[in-house]
Amino acid sequence: MAESLVAPVLRLMLFVCSVLAASGRLHGVNRSQQGRPPSSASNYSICANMVRPWGYACEEHTVTTKDGYILGVQRIPAHEPGQRMSKAPVLLQHGLLMDAVTWVYNQPDKSLAFILADNGYDVWMANSRGTKPSLGHTSLSSSDPAYWEWTWDELVSYDLTATFQHVNRVTGQNLHYVAHSLGTLMGLAAFSQNKLVNMMRSAVLLSPIAYLNNIPSMFARATANMFVGEELYWLGLHEFNLKGEAADALLNTLCKISTSLCGDLLNGFTGQNCCLNSSRAGIFFEYEPQPTSTKNMVHIAQMIRTGTIRKFDYGGTGNMNHYAQPTPPVYDMSSIPADLPLYVAYGGRDMLAGVKDVHALLNKLESHDVDKLVTQYVAEYAHADFVFGVNAHDRIYDPVLAFFKLN
Ligand SMILES: *[C@@H]1O[C@H](CO)[C@@H](O)[C@H](O)[C@H]1NC(C)=O
Ligand SMILES: *[C@@H]1O[C@H](CO)[C@@H](O)[C@H](O)[C@H]1NC(C)=O
Ligand SMILES: *[C@@H]1O[C@H](CO)[C@@H](O)[C@H](O)[C@H]1NC(C)=O
Repeated sequence: MAESLVAPVLRLMLFVCSVLAASGRLHGVNRSQQGRPPSSASNYSICANMVRPWGYACEEHTVTTKDGYILGVQRIPAHEPGQRMSKAPVLLQHGLLMDAVTWVYNQPDKSLAFILADNGYDVWMANSRGTKPSLGHTSLSSSDPAYWEWTWDELVSYDLTATFQHVNRVTGQNLHYVAHSLGTLMGLAAFSQNKLVNMMRSAVLLSPIAYLNNIPSMFARATANMFVGEELYWLGLHEFNLKGEAADALLNTLCKISTSLCGDLLNGFTGQNCCLNSSRAGIFFEYEPQPTSTKNMVHIAQMIRTGTIRKFDYGGTGNMNHYAQPTPPVYDMSSIPADLPLYVAYGGRDMLAGVKDVHALLNKLESHDVDKLVTQYVAEYAHADFVFGVNAHDRIYDPVLAFFKLN
């Protein structure tokens, strides 16, 4: 391997290591005790594996995007004995390197999808292209490099749009949107273009990702500054799959060389999650992390480096070709319709959605209707606590239910 490549690969692996560490994988997980491996991609059913065993009804839907991706969407209809009328649909959108298992991970009384169904909501769970439930395409195979030619720009303009339209059409109702991490950026970017808002009632943004230039994690900063992801991308690593054997081997090597480094990354990268259930880490690793495109990772690294929220930067001539302008078009957060009900929850220990960056977003929303913007600051929460925390039902989901009642 050329010397110029070694550093980027190591940096990439540091990044990988820290994402996984943050997810709990390197935190007390004995890899020989992780239980049975997840079902194969062709047999990957979130309904069958994660929902129906708890006694909830669950439907598997597919949604085809305008650019041909076939997305798996799960629906948990209202679960209210003796009450057939359901409340509004709620669409749950996971974050980077995750899938809909995010919402059904803990036991039913602690997982948002089940709690919503118990409260009479019609629950829909999206899965972004490239994740196991959404690997289909009308003409491409996921082993084709062209399959991975997208970033969150496409998740906004194709995946989210198609999924919203599907829920809207099947239920005949406007929906509440709940997103975590990168899913919040997808929503914010769409709303800033005045898209989707005609199909929705409100949006709940947990650990909102928007501006990233003050990302508190010095590991993330250092990684992004040095991240030579473009190089990797052009070298042909189109799919970014942390479960690939090479990634696994490198990760293991790296963490064996320095477990303390991995420990530091856990604290330094996403912040110390207060409230994860370490005895469920095995379940986590059965399903996550999910693949994404390398190009998507590069796009996020661009945001960290530049502090902008704009489309993928192809460089001067590339931008002219793609956008007919020398710099990528910007998503202007202050263009989000002021009367869209928003609930923004962020954590004091979150090293990805850092307090400064969340405040920068809130500043952009300063002319938002005062009675349409709820913010919640949870001092002890880090990035993953918002969806996996064993007390999130108390801290977050109860207030969210109250917010839904008003909107
Ligand atoms: C992991 O679990 C296996 C099987 O239960 C056990 O034999 C092994 O000693 C454990 N390893 C560690 C490092 O705890
Ligand atoms: C497919 O899923 C079913 C039910 O979850 C399971 O019993 C079976 O072993 C799985 N098959 C494969 C090949 O993973
Ligand atoms: C943590 O996970 C274990 C194993 O799934 C479960 O038995 C336990 O109730 C969970 N604890 C909490 C506080 O949710």
